[in-house]
Amino acid sequence: MAEIKTVGVIGAGQMGSGIAHVCALAGYDVHLNDVAQEKLDQGLKTIERNMQRQVARGMIALDAMQAALPRIHISNDLGIVGKSDLIIEAATENEEIKKAIFRSLAPHLAEATLLASNTSSISITRLASTTDRPERFIGLHFMNPAPLMKLVEIIRGIATDVDTYETAARFAQSLGKTTANAEDFPAFIVNRVLVPMINEAIYTLYEGVGTVEAIDTAMRLGANHPMGPLELGDFIGLDTVLSIMNVLHEGLADSKYRPCPLLVKYVEAGWLGRKSGRGFYDYRGEVPVPTR
Ligand SMILES: NC(=O)c1ccc[n+]([C@@H]2O[C@H](COP(=O)([O-])OP(=O)(O)OC[C@H]3O[C@@H](n4cnc5c(N)ncnc54)[C@H](O)[C@@H]3O)[C@@H](O)[C@H]2O)c1
Repeated sequence: MAEIKTVGVIGAGQMGSGIAHVCALAGYDVHLNDVAQEKLDQGLKTIERNMQRQVARGMIALDAMQAALPRIHISNDLGIVGKSDLIIEAATENEEIKKAIFRSLAPHLAEATLLASNTSSISITRLASTTDRPERFIGLHFMNPAPLMKLVEIIRGIATDVDTYETAARFAQSLGKTTANAEDFPAFIVNRVLVPMINEAIYTLYEGVGTVEAIDTAMRLGANHPMGPLELGDFIGLDTVLSIMNVLHEGLADSKYRPCPLLVKYVEAGWLGRKSGRGFYDYRGEVPVPTR
C-alpha cells in the first residue's frame, strides 16, 4: 500500500482550506494551492482562526495547533504541489476547470502519486480519464465544514484499483473520519439526497408556499434539521448547489432534478450565499436577514 506523508490540496476555498486544516492536524505536510493569491492568504487565515476556535473550545490542544500550522505551505505553483504523495483537488465545482487542473498537473507528478477529487457531484470516472493514472484516481468527498464533519464519502471510478481504494480509506480514517462508499453516479449519496431537498425548498419559496423564515423554521423544528434548507444552501454556496443540480439533471436525464429558476437567478446575481455576503439571507449586518 502506498505511504502518504505529504498531501497537496488544490483550491483554497471553504473546502480546500478545511481539508488542509484536518490533514495538518493529523500530521501530514500540506501544500495548499490556488490560482488566486488572496484565496491562499485568506485560506491560511481561516485555518488559523478555526484552529484557535478549536483550542478555545477544548477540541484540540494548543501545542497540536502550534505543530500543525507550520506544516501548511501555500503556493500557486503546481510544480510544488505535484511532488505530494496524495493530491486532493478541491477547486470550483466545474468540470472544465477540474479537467484543466488535472491536465496541468500531469507533468509534475511522481509515478506513485495518488490523485483524488473532492467533487460533490461530477463523475470520478470521467475526471480520472483525463489523467495518465485512472487506476490511481479516486473521489474523496469531505463534508463542509471539513474540520468538524465526521464523514468522508469514498467514490471509486471504474478503473480505480484496490490499492488506491485501501490507501485512500486508510488515509481518511487517519484523519479521524468515518467513510461511506458510494458508487460513481451523479452526486453520489449525500448530495443525491440533500441537494434536491434544498432545490425543493427553493421551489417552495418560488411558488410562495412560505417565506425564507417560514421554510427554514419549518424544517428546523418540524424535521429536526440543525439548519433550514435555505440556510444550508447559503452555507454550501448557491453556485455549488446549482452545479450539483445541473449534474443530476444532465446525468440522470430526469425532469425531477430541474434546477429552480429562482436558484439560477440568485447565482446570476452573484448572490452565492455566505461566501459572497448575500444569498437567501443577507450576511453583511450583525445578524443574517432574509432577502425575500
Ligand atoms: N461547499 C460545500 O459545502 C462543499 C462540500 C463538499 C464538497 N464541495 C466541493 O469542493 C469543491 C470546492 O468547493 P468550495 O465550496 O470550497 O468552493 P469555493 O468557491 O469556496 O473555492 C473554490 C476555490 O477554487 C479555486 N480555483 C478555481 N480554479 C482553480 C484552479 N484552476 N486552480 C486552483 N484553484 C482554483 C478558487 O480560486 C477558489 O478559491 C467543489 O468541487 C465542491 O463541489 C463543496
